Amino acid sequence: PVLYVLNGPNLNLLGVREPDIYGRETLDDVQALCEGAADGACVVFRQTNHEGQLIDWVQEARDTASALVINPAGYGHTSVALLDALKTLTIPIVECHLSNPAARERFRHRSYVSPVAAGVVSGFGPFSYELAVKAALRLAQEHRA
Ligand code: DQA
Repeated sequence: PVLYVLNGPNLNLLGVREPDIYGRETLDDVQALCEGAADGACVVFRQTNHEGQLIDWVQEARDTASALVINPAGYGHTSVALLDALKTLTIPIVECHLSNPAARERFRHRSYVSPVAAGVVSGFGPFSYELAVKAALRLAQEHRA
C-alpha cells in the first residue's frame, strides 16, 4: 500500500517555530517516525506552503494512495477548497495535528477537514503522526477487504 502524508503551511519550520507549542523535532524527524510506523508500506511524505499545491497532491492521491494522513495546518481552519478536494477521495482520510487545536484559540476550533476525516489525532506532538499512520494503514486494509 501507498500512504500519503501531506503537510500544510509553516510545517517546514518545525523545530524552530514556536517550539514551546510544536516541539524541537524537525519535519525530517517526523518523516522518519512515519516511515518507521508504516511497517513496510510506501510513505509519500510532503510539505507545502501553498494551498493549490496541497490540493494538487490531494487530487494526485485519488489515483495512487490507499490512505491519506493530512496535517492541513492553518488551511484546516480556512480552506473550503481543500475540503472540496478531500471530498473527491474515496480512500480513508486521517487528520493529524501536533498540538491540540481544541485547547487553543477559538479560531482553531473549526476544522474544514474533520467532517471528511475518518478520525482525528491531535495533541501528541510527533507521536500524533505515528498514531495517524497506524490508523490510516488499518483503515486502508479494511477499505480494501
Ligand atoms: C497545527 C495546528 C494548527 O492550528 C496550526 O495552524 C498549525 C499546526 C498542528 O499541527 O498542531 O500550523 O495543524
